[in-house]
Amino acid sequence: MRLILLGPPGAGKGTQAQRLVEKYGIVQLSTGDMLRASAAAGTPVGSKAKAIMDRGDLVPDDVMIEIIAERLDEPGSSKGFILDGFPRTVAQAEALDTLLDQRDLALDAIIEIKVDEQVLIDRIAGRSKETGGTRGDDQSTAKRLEVYRKQTAPVADHYRRKGVLVSVDGMGTMDEVAALIDRHVQSLVEA
Ligand code: AP5
Repeated sequence: MRLILLGPPGAGKGTQAQRLVEKYGIVQLSTGDMLRASAAAGTPVGSKAKAIMDRGDLVPDDVMIEIIAERLDEPGSSKGFILDGFPRTVAQAEALDTLLDQRDLALDAIIEIKVDEQVLIDRIAGRSKETGGTRGDDQSTAKRLEVYRKQTAPVADHYRRKGVLVSVDGMGTMDEVAALIDRHVQSLVEA
């Protein structure tokens, strides 16, 4: 199974991806987590990415496409994967189309999680309280939402035009959202 979870910052992509990983045994490819791990390790890419992330901007497309191309070729991805945080621009979506075509792979579903902006802002603020620590980009929520509207929202249109986009209401509890996503994923499993 090959899925993409799309949605703005705080929509619950990471939360829902984890649940799908546990249920279906596929890997989560979270570009945000990969970048944070590189930054924590102090790699040259990670150090540059940290400054970009902290101000709420996007890391350049060529860097992200190279990272994902490598991950697609890892043995763990062969059983299936959930992309969380990628693609985030139309250029990344088009590059992903090419990478998948080259490997003779197809996406099963692109699931867009829809949540109102004020709820996103509250959730991101709440995450810092839950964990007791802040993420470097927690102060850049307004910028991240603006970047999402301008650069990432068109990615949903890219997949909508291809007829493979499913939108789910992400405003409910984590369990309610998981049930909506799972209903769709189950229909793919049973098809
Ligand atoms: P990334 O790590 O992808 O962050 P994001 O998209 O901003 O997403 P978040 O992790 O904030 O939210 P989420 O949707 O995963 O929600 P979560 O489950 O955590 O990217 C970070 C940065 O890296 C980017 O800004 C960019 O700089 C860079 N980057 C990454 N990928 C890139 C790419 N492809 N190209 C370029 N740059 C890239 O939930 C949020 C909170 O809400 C949690 O506390 C959770 O417990 C809570 N919550 C979740 N669901 C619910 C619910 N239903 N009800 C109540 N609370 C909920």
